[in-house]
Amino acid sequence: MCQDCQKKTFYITTPIYYPSDNLHIGHAYCSTAVDTMARFKKMTGYDTYFLTGTDEHGQKIERKAKEKGVTPQAYVDHIVDGIKDLWKLMDIQYDDFIRTTDQRHVACVQKLFKQLYDQGDIYKSEYEGWYCTPCESFWTELQLKDGKCPDCGRPVEKTREESYFFKLSKYQDWLIQYIEEHPDFIQPASRANEMMNNFLKPGLEDLCVSRTSIQWGIPVTFDPKHTVYVWLDALSNYISALGYGTDHDELYRKYWPADVHMVGKEIVRFHTIIWPIMLHALGLPLPKQVFGHGWLVIDGKKMGKSVGNVVDPVVLCNRYSSDAVRYFLMREMPFGSDGEFTLKAMLTRINADLANDLGNLVSRTVAMIEKYFGGQIPAADAVEDVDRALWQLAEELPGKVEKQMDALQFSGALQEIWKLIGECNKYIDVTQPWVLGREDAGKPRLRTVLYTLAECVRRVAALIGFVMPRTPARIYAQLGVTDLALTDWASVQKPFGVLPAGLQVHKGEALFPRLDIQKELERDAPKTEAPKAEKQPAKQPEKKKHAEPEYPAEIEIDDFFKCKLQVARVLACEKVEKSKKLLKFQLSLGKDGTRTVVSGIAQYYTPEELVGRQVVLISNLKTAKLAGIESQGMILSAVDAEDHLKLVSVQEGVEDGAIIG
Ligand code: ME8
Ligand code: MG
Repeated sequence: MCQDCQKKTFYITTPIYYPSDNLHIGHAYCSTAVDTMARFKKMTGYDTYFLTGTDEHGQKIERKAKEKGVTPQAYVDHIVDGIKDLWKLMDIQYDDFIRTTDQRHVACVQKLFKQLYDQGDIYKSEYEGWYCTPCESFWTELQLKDGKCPDCGRPVEKTREESYFFKLSKYQDWLIQYIEEHPDFIQPASRANEMMNNFLKPGLEDLCVSRTSIQWGIPVTFDPKHTVYVWLDALSNYISALGYGTDHDELYRKYWPADVHMVGKEIVRFHTIIWPIMLHALGLPLPKQVFGHGWLVIDGKKMGKSVGNVVDPVVLCNRYSSDAVRYFLMREMPFGSDGEFTLKAMLTRINADLANDLGNLVSRTVAMIEKYFGGQIPAADAVEDVDRALWQLAEELPGKVEKQMDALQFSGALQEIWKLIGECNKYIDVTQPWVLGREDAGKPRLRTVLYTLAECVRRVAALIGFVMPRTPARIYAQLGVTDLALTDWASVQKPFGVLPAGLQVHKGEALFPRLDIQKELERDAPKTEAPKAEKQPAKQPEKKKHAEPEYPAEIEIDDFFKCKLQVARVLACEKVEKSKKLLKFQLSLGKDGTRTVVSGIAQYYTPEELVGRQVVLISNLKTAKLAGIESQGMILSAVDAEDHLKLVSVQEGVEDGAIIG
């Protein structure tokens, strides 16, 4: 409970992500779920806190930075900006973004580690065993599967070094009992069984929690050649972000324990074994729930960078709108299970649920009010059973949605809302307003029917915003609703009939235009496939050496204005594997989001010298695939007869995304 506002609090977290320059739709899935839940709780009156961030230490990052020839800090810094841009694009509205390289976090981890050491829960010994770098996890000989990591199947490395150990074994029996007594702690329940049977019952070994062979980590204060094991470091983010252990721990006192840690199923183990034992050893309360969601898979395989089957959420959002992508992610798979991601399934959903069911309901309702009542929403008049049934369904809807959301069943919640939408469309077919409009002189039935539809549409708009934050405003604009009191949770709790008659509707453009699925599928699939050996693409967007195109003697000014030229900032840049010429850029267009662009200038510039610079981009160029990467625009450069190539730039002081012309 918040002492100041007397609201109930709700604290929810995503995992903190490993910095990667292309987060895929699988990552976006987790953040979308948390954002959706946080928005729902906020809407229903909770004082909500939503934390996300990045997990920046460890062997994996240390190695990647080395490969790129930059410091680990420089490497993570530019990637984090790109991640924040993605969350902005997807309307992921977090309250705080913690980075494990933040000083506030480092200090907290050092303090926790010292406390555990001082009280005897951490001790020094020697570690000998196996380590999986991609998973940052330790394995014993027995746990390996065919000599490989049992989680991801990749090779492991033999490790032997002086290490500090955390006494997990001491707390094993306590944890077993805790999980048995708190069936809600690990959800879905199947994951609790998995933890019990695979890890807890066979017996916990003490955990190696420091490394001497890795510099890129948080130093142990009392033995600085050791750095803290990344998982101990990472898990602490959930309280370090709240100021735990500092003089400013108001947020900690207000929000801890967390209501839900939302995590992918492969990291449930860390969150339900190491984390609760750490907290318990420190004398702190445990999070109320760890929810392990399923994976987005492609052809049955987890979408992930190592498999190279990732789908880029930026491309999807730019093409189909972030609301449509969010809707699909939350609607398609029951939360908790794995779900196959296909573009076709997404497009089919967009057409069926958004363009047809929702879009048509809104456009038909508005069009009929325009046609029969000059655009003024009529007051209900004669009411019949068929109307009452729909009113009742609409009144019962918020309760049903809340019940589904409390069980983290996003898809179930949306199905409830779409039941009302479906019933509204049926109601139109049954009541046949076009017949009522013809035959009925004072139109009492038609008034009731159109009022009923308008009020249902308003209720739907008020209910979908937690999943699709941009769509409600577009519906309200069509309905002529401007009063915020008609848009909140309280307004859908009230008996049917909240919408005042007399509002002026405005027909707008289709909420979700119908997609030509075949045509969309024939476009390049929005994948960032593992780069293949470079082929000369048919259409080279970059200038070929000395190949002067033939210019017309004059052009119209309109010809020039077809090119959208924008100032773009290089967020990240790397060589395209197996290509001598190509560089892959992550560009920021400011509030227009980010772009991936491939450009053939590797012989003229190194990636390092470009990061942070502003360039000029043709941002409306049709996307093209270069070395398997979808390039969304063209960076301008000048070449002289000697083949000197220089990038076109603008003087500093103009915002990213600024239009040139
Ligand atoms: O695990 N489908 O970070 P991460 C669904 N830093 N979810 C997916 C997914 C997919 N195909 N691929 C990834 C880490 N995710 C740690 C967490 S928390 C203290 C430290 C999800 O970047 C994954 O399951 O590898 C996880 O929940 C999240 O993305 C971050 O994964
Ligand atoms: Mg992972």
